[in-house]
Amino acid sequence: MMNAIAFLGNSTMRPSKCILRAFSRLSPSRDAAFQPHPSRFINHNINNQDPYRITKLRNVVPFCTNKPSSVTTQVASEARNLSASKTCTKDTTLDQVIIPKNGFNVKPLTVERLEEDEKDEEVVNGDVRNIDKDGLESVRRKEIEEEAWRLLRQSVVTYCDSPVGTMAANDPTDATPLNYDQVFVRDFVPSALAFLMKGESEIVRNFLLYTLQLQSWEKTVDCYSPGQGLMPASFKVRISPLEEDKFEEVLDPDFGESAIGRVAPVDSGLWWIILLRAYGKITGDYSLQERVDVQTGIKMIANLCLADGFDMFPTLLVTDGSCMIDRRMGIHGHPLEIQALFYSALRSSREMITINDSSKNLVRTINNRLSAISFHIRENYWVDKCKINEIYRYKTEEYSTDATNKFNIYPDQVSPWLMDWIPESRRCGFLVGNLQPAHMDFRFFTLGNLWSVISSLGTPRQNQAILNLIEEKWDDLIGHMPLKICFPALESAEWHIITGSDPKNTPWSYHNGGSWPTLLWQFTLACMKMGRPELAEKAVALAEKRLQADRWPEYYDTRYGKFIGKKSRLYQTWTIAGFLTAKQLLQNPEMASSLFWEEDLELLETCVCVLSKSGRKSCSRAAAKSQILI
Ligand code: GLC
Repeated sequence: MMNAIAFLGNSTMRPSKCILRAFSRLSPSRDAAFQPHPSRFINHNINNQDPYRITKLRNVVPFCTNKPSSVTTQVASEARNLSASKTCTKDTTLDQVIIPKNGFNVKPLTVERLEEDEKDEEVVNGDVRNIDKDGLESVRRKEIEEEAWRLLRQSVVTYCDSPVGTMAANDPTDATPLNYDQVFVRDFVPSALAFLMKGESEIVRNFLLYTLQLQSWEKTVDCYSPGQGLMPASFKVRISPLEEDKFEEVLDPDFGESAIGRVAPVDSGLWWIILLRAYGKITGDYSLQERVDVQTGIKMIANLCLADGFDMFPTLLVTDGSCMIDRRMGIHGHPLEIQALFYSALRSSREMITINDSSKNLVRTINNRLSAISFHIRENYWVDKCKINEIYRYKTEEYSTDATNKFNIYPDQVSPWLMDWIPESRRCGFLVGNLQPAHMDFRFFTLGNLWSVISSLGTPRQNQAILNLIEEKWDDLIGHMPLKICFPALESAEWHIITGSDPKNTPWSYHNGGSWPTLLWQFTLACMKMGRPELAEKAVALAEKRLQADRWPEYYDTRYGKFIGKKSRLYQTWTIAGFLTAKQLLQNPEMASSLFWEEDLELLETCVCVLSKSGRKSCSRAAAKSQILI
């Protein structure tokens, strides 16, 4: 059923039409990836054991030109001939297929699925007894969950009749969906976990394999191609007419070249790796991550992130808007969210990369980087009341290798909101949003802090203190709807200068202090890791009261998350999936525990050993242990 696939065409100038038809991704090496010979296709047809094996044809035009090279043209035409017989065509007379406004096929709920939902009922009822503290009837609770599942299934996007992802939002009344009808890599993660925990892994496997094929499709912005290994922010299944009433489906990725602001999706590849690990952990099917093409995909992402640059820090240097906050919000440099995802992705890669002669250097590099990142973040991003007091009294302009104020932070950056806000107790603290020379962004960014807990980027004490802070600052960070994307909002001149007067990111709206229910699943995972499920249950119960009535909004506005966001999409898939995933995690602590990471003493040991070379610390496991207790 699934087509073999090929990427064709001169991507350098043409607006990136990739035609997915006939493929195998055989070569792990960057340059060997292009073999301009049609035998690749023939070969594939003969060895047609796995429908997902893909050959990606790389554009060989050396610089920006309108003319396709003769090689490209030749391969393209060969491929077209060969693939014509395999084109995925739509038979519109099939009465089981519903075509919604955006043209995606949505499979109707099947009998098997209803049966599975019935099985779920017992679990739901069991759960209801536990958390029925807020007056919601158990029947209501079940109805809400059922609606969420129905909506999640309706958001499924198919490619050649196979499910490949979920669209970002699926509001039938929205006449201008912009790119919300696309499958976003980051948005799909909670959908994937919800499906995996329900025992439905096909969609996740398809997603992982198809996005892998999109990975290095060369898209350009002003004659410049982003680095090899970059994963798209999103993709769309376009339907183009063939002859008569036949259609062809085409997978079309967006690497930021169409995105508002042309932002680079740095987090996509990191999420892809994290999801690949989760797929293995939950299904027990490790054969997917062992495949040569999948191994190559992991390595390409890792290599892209680990490439040398001019940076002085082990953290990843990125532009503004390179993650969930995909607009200008003053998070260029070394934002915590990216660092925590980077750390999680490296920890995942380390578990998944098959060790052999060709991979051992990469694994060594990963281990060293992991140690360096955790040391850097634990030491330099952490603040609690005492640390803030220390910064407040910092000496500046210290020229020496052992300066206390290494980044030359001027004490005036400790703003009044922070001095008021930080709890007295040393049991509370958090990791700051960003750190650069003479710049410490003290805003609290929720996703980065949660993933630091989940991945053990923070020390055990720091991780506990982050949850203590969220509990202590419940009204500010959770309020009427979990959870604030960041705190506090940028206001007045800061809003003008830092957001560029962005009308969507006005104070306490959207990325600028809005409340995003999708963060609920990651909060739940962090709480479960730290043995505090009751905190997550409280937040889930709060969301449950409003989400369905409010039609599953993308985000909420105001200081305490009281109103549905000004420009918020409705029926936002990751809101729905985040809610379902949070509930499933609470019901399945064992599955939850397979998704987070405990402290890794070996990594700390590497770090302490590296420090000892510079004469600063002794090298031993005991020293490593003391390091983790900072
Ligand atoms: C917005 C969000 C981004 C999300 C996308 C699709 O652009 O900022 O994080 O992935 O919408 O939902």
